Amino acid sequence: MEKVVSGIRPTGNLHLGNYFGAVKSFVAMQDQYQCLFFIADWHSLTTHPKPENIQASARTILAEYLACGIDPTKAPIYIQSDVKETLELYLYFNMNIYLGELERVTTFKEKARQQPDNVNAGLLTYPTLMAADVLQHRAHKVPVGKDQEQNMEMMRKCARRFNNIYGVEFFPEPQNFYFGEKALKVPGLDGSGKMGKSTGNCIYLRDDDKTITKKVMKAVTDSGPTEPNSPKPEVIENLFTFLRIASTPDTYQYFDEQWNNCTLRYGDLKKQIAHDLVEIVAPIRAKIEEYSANTELLDKIAREGAEVARASASETLKAVREIIGFRK
Ligand code: TRP
Repeated sequence: MEKVVSGIRPTGNLHLGNYFGAVKSFVAMQDQYQCLFFIADWHSLTTHPKPENIQASARTILAEYLACGIDPTKAPIYIQSDVKETLELYLYFNMNIYLGELERVTTFKEKARQQPDNVNAGLLTYPTLMAADVLQHRAHKVPVGKDQEQNMEMMRKCARRFNNIYGVEFFPEPQNFYFGEKALKVPGLDGSGKMGKSTGNCIYLRDDDKTITKKVMKAVTDSGPTEPNSPKPEVIENLFTFLRIASTPDTYQYFDEQWNNCTLRYGDLKKQIAHDLVEIVAPIRAKIEEYSANTELLDKIAREGAEVARASASETLKAVREIIGFRK
């Protein structure tokens, strides 16, 4: 079975954009690939050197992913900082990558602009740590978004360069991986293109029914259709995207017809969307609460995940040390 590895930054809670855009496909993947997921807490130090409660944030994410359906018996999930083997590989990759290559990475340049007082070496070597995350397992596939394209390019460069320097065919060149249907892009509720934390237009998996309903009812609309069969403006198209995501095809058609014959009432449409989103979120939220209350179970799952990851990484590192020529 091919190996899939992906990291999750421990920033904030999961929202519907994360759920439909990524997490759902992680859940589907675990049956067909040998998946390993981890929470990238070391990476978070590049921007937050003094985290408030790093263990609590890792548990929060862990509870949310498990609640969404990640099954740790199929797809172990671990915390990056529990697997110290990663650091050794990170060091080797840092020896083979040039300063200029790292400086050219767009995310580095952006972060350097955002935090001019803390342009630290970890920020610069973010891509080599990411390469170590994946290549320590010699994984082939990495399910990440478009924003990670350049980091993936650097990862392949690390693999290629190691192979070239030592004249081996040891590391595969991991590919970005899109599983199943095209990831759904969940629109924002404020008329903006995309649901995202930075835009503050999110419905979180932890939101209660009332909050979800309130957020949906407040979604931006216009003054309504005036001519039959007119094209939908973006804000209305966004609402219909929610219908497509959350409701049945029949329901979609019902409201689409109303739009086309100018009888659509946005209030009804929103009520429907809110109702159907609550149906999806409520059971997940219940599971999040259940997991969150069971710190012991969460820690056990993370510990067991780390064991699997360490076994896989130490096998790789043993070979790497031998290839470079270190004492066994
Ligand atoms: N950089 C990734 C992100 O911001 C998180 C990440 C860290 C990651 N290490 C990884 C993703 C390894 C995939 C593989 O989303």
